[in-house]
Amino acid sequence: MARIVVLGASGATGRLVTRALLERGFDVVAAGPSPSRVGEALGDAAGATEIVEVDLTEPAAVVAAVARGAAVVSAVGPFDALGRTVVDAAIDAGVAYLDTAGEQPFVAWARDARAERARAAGVSVVPGVGAAGLPGDLLAALAGEHASGPCEVHVAYAFPDGLWRSASAGTRRSLAAVLGAPVLARIDGRLEEERLGEQRRLAWFPRPVGPRHAAAVPGLEALTVPDHLPAATVVRTYLSMSTPASELLQAVGNLARWPPAGERLRAALTPAERTRTRVAGDRARWACVAEVADDHVVGRAWAHGRDPYALTAAAVTAGVERIVAGEVPPGVHGPAALGPAGDVLDRIGATTDLRWGRATSERPTRGR
Ligand SMILES: NC(=O)c1ccc[n+]([C@@H]2O[C@H](COP(=O)([O-])OP(=O)(O)OC[C@H]3O[C@@H](n4cnc5c(N)ncnc54)[C@H](OP(=O)(O)O)[C@@H]3O)[C@@H](O)[C@H]2O)c1
Repeated sequence: MARIVVLGASGATGRLVTRALLERGFDVVAAGPSPSRVGEALGDAAGATEIVEVDLTEPAAVVAAVARGAAVVSAVGPFDALGRTVVDAAIDAGVAYLDTAGEQPFVAWARDARAERARAAGVSVVPGVGAAGLPGDLLAALAGEHASGPCEVHVAYAFPDGLWRSASAGTRRSLAAVLGAPVLARIDGRLEEERLGEQRRLAWFPRPVGPRHAAAVPGLEALTVPDHLPAATVVRTYLSMSTPASELLQAVGNLARWPPAGERLRAALTPAERTRTRVAGDRARWACVAEVADDHVVGRAWAHGRDPYALTAAAVTAGVERIVAGEVPPGVHGPAALGPAGDVLDRIGATTDLRWGRATSERPTRGR
């Protein structure tokens, strides 16, 4: 079986990714700045891996580690601060790359600044293979199968047990890092800046979550969905929250755009180094729905399950299987490049409790 390098193997996500890859029969090189912390985090799985010391602030060590695998998985954030070195190392070493990033600025950078280099080097790069990113892209592909012309795409996520409460320290660091950054949405077929939380929508989440209010956030879908729905005129990502929470989010977003306030807010929200917040066995619920509407038809596809971190580990493993089999073309792609959306979701559902579905309905004619 192919050898996969996992960066951040001592983290909440990296340890699950390592275990999931081992279960699928891959050889894993588990990397982190402290081999003893990696060993401790992996517990009884440590014996099945090779553990190496890699700090992403030392580019030469990153290149040497990455070159040892058929693919590298990066689960070290915040990606905008730490992740670029790994993308560059993978391209230079000719090694396929996946990561768990949910940060819009980082994924926009990878797509804008590295797509050409990745293509020229024959390397497949797929950022955003996580609970916030992969479901939206795949579900938009399924919901948009009917669309042959211009269409609007609205993707909404719900974390009914509380996003912040169930987030790992690494996720909290990444969320804090993007606070105050421009929020990009696709409007009139172009990426445009919007205010955090300004756009609102009633999102039709599947049962047991049900319909909920949601506010616009900087998602990856505005970047990735046009890869497979090039006629998408509008693409936005939303997060389910109450109306007062949307108002608060909008106020905080506006404040964070003022640099001194942004710095303070980010500092206040960033957990101290090596804080561990995620409780093992936390089975927080998640749900995602994508709506794709053209002039005549609305397509909806949805998925839900428990434990966004288990979902992320299963998604990465499904992605690694595709990428090492040479099924993903060179270049920088969204998660939908990992294969037919239904197949990828089924593969993830085989090892997690992810369930998905879809339906289409006629769009009500306006003015009747
Ligand atoms: N898109 C999604 O839905 C999704 C899902 C899950 C995770 N994520 C993202 O994945 C990232 C990791 O999340 P997490 O929950 O696993 O975080 P975490 O538990 O804090 O783990 C972070 C990992 O990165 C390592 N690390 C930190 N600084 C490093 C450096 N300079 N060089 C090398 N390794 C370093 C840590 O090593 P030590 O243990 O030695 O400190 C640890 O292994 C975050 O950006 C998070 O947002 C996204």
